[in-house]
Amino acid sequence: MPVSGAGIRCLICTSITANSAEEAIADMYEARRAGADLVEFRADYLAEGESWERVVDQRPLPMVFTYRPVCEGGLSDMNDHERVRLLQRAVQHGVEYVDVELANMDLFRMPESVQLQDASTRPRLIVSYHSFTRPLTEAELAEIYTAIVATGADICKIAMMCHDLCDNARLFALLKRTAGSKPTIAIGMGEYGQISRVLAAKFGPAMLTFTTLSEARASAPGQFRIEELIDHYRFHSLNPDTTVYGVIGAPVRHSMSPRIHNHAFGLCRLNHVYLPFLVQDGSKLQKFLDTMTQFGLRGASVTIPHKQRIMECLDELDDVAKQIGAVNTIVVDPLTGRRKGYNTDWQAAVDAVSETLMPGIEQGQARLTALQRRHVVLLGAGGAARAIAFGVVHCGCGKLTIVNRTLERARSLANDLSPFGKTELVALSLEDFCQQQRNPATRERIDILMNSTSIGMHPDVNVVPVPEEILEPHCLVFDAVYNPIETRLLSLAKRRGCLTVDGVEMFVRQAAAQFTIWTGLRAPAQEMRNIVLQELGQLARR
Ligand SMILES: NC(=O)c1ccc[n+]([C@@H]2O[C@H](COP(=O)([O-])OP(=O)(O)OC[C@H]3O[C@@H](n4cnc5c(N)ncnc54)[C@H](OP(=O)(O)O)[C@@H]3O)[C@@H](O)[C@H]2O)c1
Repeated sequence: MPVSGAGIRCLICTSITANSAEEAIADMYEARRAGADLVEFRADYLAEGESWERVVDQRPLPMVFTYRPVCEGGLSDMNDHERVRLLQRAVQHGVEYVDVELANMDLFRMPESVQLQDASTRPRLIVSYHSFTRPLTEAELAEIYTAIVATGADICKIAMMCHDLCDNARLFALLKRTAGSKPTIAIGMGEYGQISRVLAAKFGPAMLTFTTLSEARASAPGQFRIEELIDHYRFHSLNPDTTVYGVIGAPVRHSMSPRIHNHAFGLCRLNHVYLPFLVQDGSKLQKFLDTMTQFGLRGASVTIPHKQRIMECLDELDDVAKQIGAVNTIVVDPLTGRRKGYNTDWQAAVDAVSETLMPGIEQGQARLTALQRRHVVLLGAGGAARAIAFGVVHCGCGKLTIVNRTLERARSLANDLSPFGKTELVALSLEDFCQQQRNPATRERIDILMNSTSIGMHPDVNVVPVPEEILEPHCLVFDAVYNPIETRLLSLAKRRGCLTVDGVEMFVRQAAAQFTIWTGLRAPAQEMRNIVLQELGQLARR
């Protein structure tokens, strides 16, 4: 069985954490089918009495043999001497790689028979260090790396828990510094460390990255499922020239943006990758942007809760983004590092509605005429509402009624809009609006009803923001909520004969506009829509 060469492309190694030999063998075959280059057999997970030899004998891929003690995040409570002897036996049994903790290297020697083997086929020694509770400083990383190299290791592995996205930068710097010399694995653990598992292909490249077959079978926090790494992040196409994009927000774990953008980059054969950037604390945005710009960041989407705060970290703002007071898209100039902010939410919502009202008109044209003299009712006064309201006013709608549970926020938004355009602006509480519309004597004609509250969003899918009877057939109903795709509001509106537009339309269009801003290309919008629909379909089935 060939031992994979290091340093050319980053290999995908899937951790096998089964309790029985039979399951471990099945999992190794599953890993091979999924596209793994090698497996890490975590023999410390095997139940007592199960045969590790059987697993090694039946491996379908090159194997890293690991028998991790409890103090390094494993399950083995054997004493160090016994454990080291077991690792030596695994080497004699023919595994391609053995992983030995740095702390045990004073006990471990490669068996003599192995030392005599030809260098191209003999088993390789991975010497590893894990910091499960905290990130390591630059000085600590350098010291540990030097200590590992001094053991005569073939491959150096350092894994550390990340508490901040910027912690990954020290791992990237280590991989860049050691590129072309000792094959190195440098991994950030936990959700903050996840980007290092993808960017292992860019920096160095690292010798390998670890994946899991499923979240339940992960051997360390933050491992991606192998399908996710290969299919969603296009791991095989990443290399040192890959440029980096991502979505900055909190939470971002279930964001659909990586899926839609990586898919679009792949379709257009662009050497870009799009990652989830978890930034909890707005005070860390500047440092994150400064750090990641040095490591290939060329653009980002911005989501809750940073659409306003991010503006402090930018050098320039597009005019409409400035008026709205919120940015959902950043472009980083590759030469100067200057950052410009845009907002693509407003045009996404307005285009989705305008093009439904005026089908067949060229993209962007409908928005100039479709809203004129119309009465738009916007439910909500939060972040999405702000962008939509500015868009509607920007496109010259006749009257905009902003309706919100908290009347003060509706008034404040109307106030902010008043210097722009000639639109008549009204602010109402949700309660007053519903009362007004229920009563035929006070009811107003509504041409377009746009929901930008979170009412109706999963899991409270049976709730509607307004009573059904106020939905009249001449009214177009838009819902920004996209999970579920057809909210209860939309299904009632359809039943009453209204035209409807769902939140997927807005989501896809804001992403497509981002794609164009970043690449200068027309976005593959239909394929982007299909991937979102496919993902949401899967979500609904879960
Ligand atoms: N399709 C897209 O591309 C897209 C883009 C952005 C957002 N969205 C969706 O739009 C929705 C709003 O997002 P956002 O960023 O604007 O959130 P946000 O800033 O938190 O605003 C939430 C809005 O919903 C109202 N609201 C929440 N719960 C309510 C309830 N039980 N009864 C009445 N009103 C309620 C809030 O009213 P108060 O002011 O009274 O709290 C506020 O106006 C979410 O479902 C989001 O997923 C979709």
